[in-house]
Amino acid sequence: MTLPTASVRDRILSLPSAELPAYVYDLAALRDHAAEVRAALPERVELYYAAKANPDREILTALAPYVDGYEVSSGGELAHVHEAVPGRPLAFGGPGKTPVEIAAALELGVRRFHVESAYELRMLAELAARTAPDARIDVLLRFNLPLPDALLENSSLAMGGRPTPFGLDPSEADATVALLTDGTFPQLALRGVHAHLASGLEADEQLAVAESVVRWATGLAGRHGVRLCEVNVGGGMTVDYADPDRRFDWAAYGKGLGELADAHPEVTLRIEPGRALTAYCGWYATEVLDVKHSHGEEFAVVRGGTHHLRTPATKGHDQPCSVLPVDDWPHPWPRSTARQDRVTLTGQLCTPKDVLARRVPAAGLRAGDRAAFSVAGAYAWNISHHDFLMHPRPGFHYLNHLEHPGSSEPSEPSEPSGGRRG
Ligand SMILES: Cc1ncc(COP(=O)(O)O)c(C=O)c1O
Repeated sequence: MTLPTASVRDRILSLPSAELPAYVYDLAALRDHAAEVRAALPERVELYYAAKANPDREILTALAPYVDGYEVSSGGELAHVHEAVPGRPLAFGGPGKTPVEIAAALELGVRRFHVESAYELRMLAELAARTAPDARIDVLLRFNLPLPDALLENSSLAMGGRPTPFGLDPSEADATVALLTDGTFPQLALRGVHAHLASGLEADEQLAVAESVVRWATGLAGRHGVRLCEVNVGGGMTVDYADPDRRFDWAAYGKGLGELADAHPEVTLRIEPGRALTAYCGWYATEVLDVKHSHGEEFAVVRGGTHHLRTPATKGHDQPCSVLPVDDWPHPWPRSTARQDRVTLTGQLCTPKDVLARRVPAAGLRAGDRAAFSVAGAYAWNISHHDFLMHPRPGFHYLNHLEHPGSSEPSEPSEPSGGRRG
């Protein structure tokens, strides 16, 4: 269920109806979780946060003490993360980088690129010569490597192991490495290999992927007689929305990565998770507007919907949810109330696809009760189609914010910002 933490629950119940829906993030819970993840990883394994999962400034800042840097996948993310966590290392990845974005990244001092194609490599070389002629630019070549079918079946989203627009085809590996080792691009240094092949993998599956990527990459480096400094095995650690209390096994993953690192002492291993770092720290809180019976089933229409929290619609799941009863009823008309034990929670959009969670156990649910959808800290607000139907935007509350996230003492007062995002 992933019930709201005490501070999240208090905040949700204290908000007036007009300030719902709202995203409420518990930054103390995020810091604790990130600290656990960091502690489970061997010191030699670098942890980057994939900002695309949730680029909110408060989230980026809260993660800062626990991550080695941030992976950004667009010029927009790059500029934003650079400003939000100044001076922190950035790796610029993502397909379809434009010349303007690459030049801007170079001007901002980015010296680490995940290159997705031979075309992009040529563009980077040319722009580096023009924009930062004295800089050495580290390149990780992203490859779309083959994966066993069994792993792809279990993944929720495959970016590799099959025809996709991501990364270089392995058949181009030798020719592309040659460009980086034969003096063609003197400013560009081949640092290693990057592979983000699938999302939604368990620890043992992630380890199998990491081992095969490292094996393939060391073979490639060996053929060219070059030193392989780094292998980035991407993100994609599973988040189980059907059973949110069951977490990715970071301890087993860290142990396995430690063994892999020991077997390849010359290689720095890096991971770049997004979802599994931030999903659990966010709740989308709202209020039941109406409860109705339709053809034998019960529906509760809540303020907001999938235009704010698109995750269940894109992934086809039921968003984990808990009901917070509210006994106070300020209106002269009677409350609508559920007649059955299970209720489907939908949003305010005029589409049958606007379903947040189906057949939730919610006997006696009434208009005016509140609902808190958990696991809403990643790929939630930032992937949603906010303007459809022009409903108001949600509020945003970042609880237990620290002014200086490196310190363990909360700043006073410890409950800061709330507001609507314009
Ligand atoms: C290149 C790359 N790295 C990391 C991630 C983060 O994946 P996840 O949020 O599943 O951990 C993504 C997600 O699409 C990605 O494309």
